Order: sequence, then structure tokens, then C-alpha cells
Amino acid sequence: MSSHATAVDARGLQVGYRNGRDAVTILSDVDLTVPTGEFLTILGPSGCGKSTLLRVIANLLDPLGGQISVLGGAPEVARRSRKTGFVFQDATLLPWRSVLQNIRLPAVVGGHQAQPLSDSRVAEIIDLLGLSGLEDRYPSQLSGGQRQRVAIARALVDEPDILLMDEPFGALDEITRDRLNDELLSIWRDTGKTILFVTHSIEEAVYLGQRIMVLGANPGRILNLQDLRAIKTETNACKREDPAIVAEIAAQRELLARAS
Ligand SMILES: Nc1ncnc2c1ncn2[C@@H]1O[C@H](COP(=O)(O)OP(=O)(O)O)[C@@H](O)[C@H]1O
Ligand SMILES: [Mg+2]
Repeated sequence: MSSHATAVDARGLQVGYRNGRDAVTILSDVDLTVPTGEFLTILGPSGCGKSTLLRVIANLLDPLGGQISVLGGAPEVARRSRKTGFVFQDATLLPWRSVLQNIRLPAVVGGHQAQPLSDSRVAEIIDLLGLSGLEDRYPSQLSGGQRQRVAIARALVDEPDILLMDEPFGALDEITRDRLNDELLSIWRDTGKTILFVTHSIEEAVYLGQRIMVLGANPGRILNLQDLRAIKTETNACKREDPAIVAEIAAQRELLARAS
């Protein structure tokens, strides 16, 4: 776990893309402090810049302006020391490698492997993700949910302090997604990691997040940050049918309708 109190701190951050001399701003005036250990979910209309923001935090893209620090330093330092792990929507597994080999691969985000992974640590993570017995299978022999589990396992073996998850369960059926939501919450409770989780599902955002951030488009900005702790237990648990949760989903739906 990290000794930094703040996982992500952005001040007047501006993100977008450079094309030669031109720059296209996608999000501006992003002021955001994510304390270490927080579970933050991120909602916003398609194309508003959710993935772009995660890319900047992961140091896969330089910001256009403003300030951003990750675990108290430059995003590059966090990436190089493998403190940030990324899980994408489509599990980016190598099809010609087995589950075990995929998990042992250096993750997508990161520099060199700091130290070789111990077999017992890898076994622990395989067990944690319910992948025991599937180690020798190839990605084509797995269900969508199993592939996402492998992608999460792969992000976890580096023991990153911050997990950036970009619609990781977006392609899964609802039952599988609900199950993985609960597994993710339990991993989060056990490990104390900071999680920034992008989703297009309002229900999922409310169910998972201690806070929800809604991004808006035209101009791209933070539209709303809502603290959900008051309607959840201390361990960030809730019941989907709880009236307060149902009301929050409706409120977020309304916000989102105004976001594009
Ligand atoms: N590599 C890129 N170069 C230029 N523009 C891009 C690039 N990637 C994404 N964009 C544009 O940036 C905007 C935000 O994209 P993205 O962050 O992927 O949105 P979201 O994840 O919220 O759906 C979109 O308009 C998209 O077309
Ligand atoms: Mg995206």
C-alpha cells in the first residue's frame, strides 16, 4: 500500500490530443483529488473523454495543460515504478499464451519488472480471481467473464497502488457483471487499492463507487462529483434494491441526460 495520502491530484488539468501543431481539448478545468484507497466511479456520455483522462493518469498520454500528480509525483514516475495498473474493456490477452503465461506477462502499463513474480504470489492471485484450474487454457477457450478475470489478475500481479479500469465489464452479461462487481469490491476491501473505474452503466457506478464523477461534453468538464458514503455501509456495501440507492441511480440518470 502507498504511503501517499493522495492517489491522484489534478488542478486545472486540460486533456486532449495533439496533432502536429494543433491541439484538440477534450476536457478542461479538471480539479480532482482522489484520496488513497478510494473507489471512484466515472460516468459520462460516449466520447466525452473518460478514457482520455485515464490515459493521462496512466502516463500513456501527456496532458495539454494544468497539473497532475499521481501518488505525490509525476505520472511518469508512478508508471515506471508500476504503481498504476490498467484494465481495458476488451481483455488485452495474448491469444497464443496460456492463462498463466498471460498473467505472468509484464502489464500493459509499466517499465521494467521490478522483481520476478513469486509462484506463490501468482497462485494467490489466480485463486483470488477464481481462475484455479484454468491456468493452462488459452484465451479462446475462456468465457468473456473469465477473460476479464485474467486481465484483472494480470493488472494485480504487479501490485499497483492504483487500478485504472476502463469499462472492464462493459461487454459482459448482467449476471456475470454483477458477480465480478462483488468480486472487485472484495478485492478492493482486502487490498486497499485506489480504483478509478469508468463505466457506462449508471447502476454499476452507483453500486461500486464511494464517489461518482460525472463528466460532461461540449465543453468537456467535470459536471458533478457525488459522495455516496452516506447511503452505504462503512465497507462501501449496499443493496441494489435499497430505496436510497434506487433514488441515487435516478438522480445520476438525470445528471447524465444533461451531460451531452
Ligand atoms: N488518439 C486520438 N487522437 C485524437 N482524438 C482522439 C484520440 N482518441 C480519442 N480521441 C477523441 O477524444 C474524444 C474522447 O475520447 P475518449 O476519451 O475515448 O472518450 P470516452 O472514453 O469518454 O468515450 C473523442 O472525441 C475521441 O474521438
Ligand atoms: Mg472510453
